[in-house]
Amino acid sequence: MSEPGLPPGPPGLPTTAAPALAADLYAVLGNPVAHSRSPFIHARFAAQTGQAVRYDRVLAPLDGFEDAVRAFAAAGGRGCNVTVPFKFAACALAARRSERAELAQAVNVLRLDGPAAGGWFGDNTDGIGLVRDLEGNAGVVLRGCRVLLLGAGGAGAGVLGPLLAARPAELVLANRTPQRAAALVQRHRDWAGRHGARLAAAGLDEPGRGFDVVVNATSSSLGGAAAPVAPGALRPGSLVVDLMYGAAAQPFLDWARAHGALARDGLGMLVEQAAEAFHVWRGVRPDTAPVLAALRAEIEGGR
Ligand code: ATR
Repeated sequence: MSEPGLPPGPPGLPTTAAPALAADLYAVLGNPVAHSRSPFIHARFAAQTGQAVRYDRVLAPLDGFEDAVRAFAAAGGRGCNVTVPFKFAACALAARRSERAELAQAVNVLRLDGPAAGGWFGDNTDGIGLVRDLEGNAGVVLRGCRVLLLGAGGAGAGVLGPLLAARPAELVLANRTPQRAAALVQRHRDWAGRHGARLAAAGLDEPGRGFDVVVNATSSSLGGAAAPVAPGALRPGSLVVDLMYGAAAQPFLDWARAHGALARDGLGMLVEQAAEAFHVWRGVRPDTAPVLAALRAEIEGGR
């Protein structure tokens, strides 16, 4: 499915209409991808910074991610965002990766460098996007905090490294399947030590109590499940963040508010991770505040 008013394109090819001739081509690749807000965000970044950027959506077949990337490059693509379920495939495809992408073992940004530089460079901007939203937009100082991260899947893996780099006193990674949390903690052990953060793995039934910041990176609300932890994990005034936004985030955020926490959805992180991607591609940092305000108005207006 493509956006209203836009012609549907075949899988693997851009689905939005062609704008200005001289613009460099970027896109978001995913499956599904019609819901993606990235074209909205990057169009505003490009206009704001005067960068000649065209940004499309590409529906990549579930069994054809690499072919879709190749076709996109052949069509002139210079870089792309990668979303569910291809972040691990993008990591494998990248010839070079940033340290944060190596830690996450997942890539949400690809940049096509010249042959001498090895082709596709892979990065992961999700975690730094979350940290910038928390510290820059929500005004939280993570340094010295006690942080609870719920979820050790792809989303949790993407944000763990940058959360630790913000130097919390303690970070507990809790997951329904505790072995998955333990494996991720093991991979980040040295990184946590380098940043002076105590790092521990736990199950959802015993994560600890009274955290300053609680980040929900599980997909539990998509299945209509209740909050994945007991309210004892919160304290009055805790900041609770769900990496999702809209209806998917609502039950968890309602639960958090009902227990005296401040609740924040993932829209700010979405815009901040996009700004970092824009910087990776273009070397320019857009101003995120007006774009976040416009996106929130657009989403709330569409309800
Ligand atoms: P994503 O890329 O969105 O992180 P994922 O890799 O499939 O998707 O991970 C989903 C996460 O949500 C996992 O941490 C999963 O827990 P398990 O590792 O035990 O599967 C978590 N999750 C999904 N449904 C859940 C539920 N009903 N309660 C608690 N955690 C849940």
